[in-house]
Amino acid sequence: MSQLIDADAKGLATCADHLRQGEAVAMPTETVYGLAADATQGDAIAKIYALKNRPQFNPLICHVPDLENARQLGVFNAAAEKLAAQFWPGPLTLVLPRTPDCPVHPLASAGLDTLAIRVPAHRVAQDLLRAFGRPVVAPSANPSGRLSPSQAGHVAAMLPDIPVLDGGACAIGLESSIVGCLDTASLWLRAGGLSREAIEACLGETLDEVPETHDGEAKLAPGRLARHYAPKAALRLNAETAQADELLIGFGAKAPAICAANLSAKGDMAEAAAQLFSTLHALDALAETQGKRLAIMAIPEDGLGEAINDRLRRAAQS
Ligand code: TXA
Ligand code: MG
Repeated sequence: MSQLIDADAKGLATCADHLRQGEAVAMPTETVYGLAADATQGDAIAKIYALKNRPQFNPLICHVPDLENARQLGVFNAAAEKLAAQFWPGPLTLVLPRTPDCPVHPLASAGLDTLAIRVPAHRVAQDLLRAFGRPVVAPSANPSGRLSPSQAGHVAAMLPDIPVLDGGACAIGLESSIVGCLDTASLWLRAGGLSREAIEACLGETLDEVPETHDGEAKLAPGRLARHYAPKAALRLNAETAQADELLIGFGAKAPAICAANLSAKGDMAEAAAQLFSTLHALDALAETQGKRLAIMAIPEDGLGEAINDRLRRAAQS
């Protein structure tokens, strides 16, 4: 039975208690809902991998309420300092070398000597992290390979046994962008809810790419599985119109009237990002009942479009 929990003082205390006991709870953030567990307990982290059916080599993001707590976990170089000062709390994850006395269990890093750290801005995430008082690992609260949840109900549908702290619809709706601040180079590890342009403007330099075929890729960006963020229905990209057996997702003012949904009629990238996963969840369910497939119009590549197109390419892999 799924349990939606109100994010009031009582609900927060209940969830902090679950975390202390090594249990998983789903937590809202401004990007997507996360499946949270105590980052200092190996058993609790192992449960998260099992619940998500996640390959053990794919490490998790550790969430803390502020920069001061983050400093206990990771070593900040100059670039990391700049990015944290400008974008935390917010939709940015930094991959940093672990501190020598990092309290986070090594299982969260899946054998790497780095740790992914994020300070979420969502009030409920902040309240839960402060009520709990320890770092929390939280991958997106979906079974591995499925669509990320941007509403409490999405989690309840995919992971019915998990208590879900209800924080409403996620304002950004795309996972955090991930930047590696390791030596002197800053690496673009995942396009997400903060645009590459904003990050490069803050750093005053361009981010280094990790090519998809790079030998070290498994170590640098272990999460780049080709099929990921996938609806159950087949998805066709760059569609101009719908075929008879398709539900079409539109974008912008020129979308044809037959569209089943429009990510943003006014062509706004932030709105499209916020609508992406909820639209895919809803139309995937509709496609299943109608025996149809999904198609989506071309989305421009600028700003958050890079992250939207990254998710769509992975969703469309068969
Ligand atoms: O917005 C988000 O980031 C959400 C919310 C819940 O915070 N979380 C999220 O977590 O998207 P997840 O587990 O679905 O994605 C984490 C990504 C994976 O691609 C993983 O490979 C990468 O972060 N990652 C984690 N630790 C890493 C590390 N040490 N080095 C490189 N990549 C890492
Ligand atoms: Mg995920």
